[in-house]
Amino acid sequence: MGKSVLITGGAGFIGSHFTEYLIQQYPDYEVRVLDALTYAGRRENLAAVEPHPRFTFIHGDVRDRQTVQQAMQGVHYVVHFAAETHVDRSILNPDAFITTDVYGTFIMLETARRVGVERFVHVSTDEVYGSAEQGAFTEQSPLQPSSPYAASKAGADLLAQAYYRTYGVPVLIVRPSNTFGPRQYPEKLIPFFTLRALHDEPLPLYGDGQQRRDWLYVIDHARAIDLVLHKGQVGEAYNIAGGNERANIEVSRLILHTLGKPESLIEFVKDRPGHDRRYALDDSKLRALGWQPQADFETALRETVLWYAQHREWWQPIVQEQLEYRKFVEQWYTQRQ
Ligand code: TYD
Repeated sequence: MGKSVLITGGAGFIGSHFTEYLIQQYPDYEVRVLDALTYAGRRENLAAVEPHPRFTFIHGDVRDRQTVQQAMQGVHYVVHFAAETHVDRSILNPDAFITTDVYGTFIMLETARRVGVERFVHVSTDEVYGSAEQGAFTEQSPLQPSSPYAASKAGADLLAQAYYRTYGVPVLIVRPSNTFGPRQYPEKLIPFFTLRALHDEPLPLYGDGQQRRDWLYVIDHARAIDLVLHKGQVGEAYNIAGGNERANIEVSRLILHTLGKPESLIEFVKDRPGHDRRYALDDSKLRALGWQPQADFETALRETVLWYAQHREWWQPIVQEQLEYRKFVEQWYTQRQ
């Protein structure tokens, strides 16, 4: 039976891939995207679905009760991506993280409670667990966030749990690992380093470059959320792991090799304060539902890097803003020592 789905943050990186995926996968679903179009949300990310008769775009903010109330009318499923997501920005300017990630999620949950949706997927992050010095976190591990970003997402995650326990809102939580793919805003490691390499500029690697992340391809991420949305157990959280744990320096080298650039472009810079050493997730609960990642990391990374090389028109309008912000970040970290 056809469902109506509200996707918040659908003009962002993962949200736009998920929107495309859902429209392709479910020919009888009606899909609405609610997005504030802040710096990382861009209408062009939805170009492939915009002309579709089952697609509607609503320009609005999850912190605005009335907008959310209108957007959620008649909706069966909610998938809540909308958030501020970049750790460095949260260190310099935490305000928007608290208002959007925590208060915005509160407005979403509160509206879902009043409207009475069938399922509400809250997109959390592996960063809520903090650094995994060894082993891998399960969904039962304590939340020990390090950055203001991770803390705001942990607050949202806990609110989502509370809304299930207190009001019976049919919440499902996903905690994905570091995601990569085309259309990711070039503040995150892979697209940022790709653009630096394309310009023959140094790649500023924090600290010793030995921090480890588990990389998840965006299409595998979208498939996992689809599965949890339709088959997950209400009230439960599901880790989504990429199964590709790599040190940052290895990822940097792969980017350079793909573009035929020298490793001498790698430059070690002052570390990010509170920098988590390693993220690692146990995703057996999600695998038991029938999911496993399909992408081969090296191939997907190569394709992603080449996508940026071939889509200058996508990043040209935003690269200047990012470079200016980045200078500000590096100055701030350097002055702290
Ligand atoms: P990032 O993409 O910001 O994601 P997160 O901090 O949420 O994991 O960073 C991924 C890793 O890359 C992280 O360990 C920080 C590191 N990093 C750098 O070394 N230099 C950079 O310029 C950036 C953006 C990240």
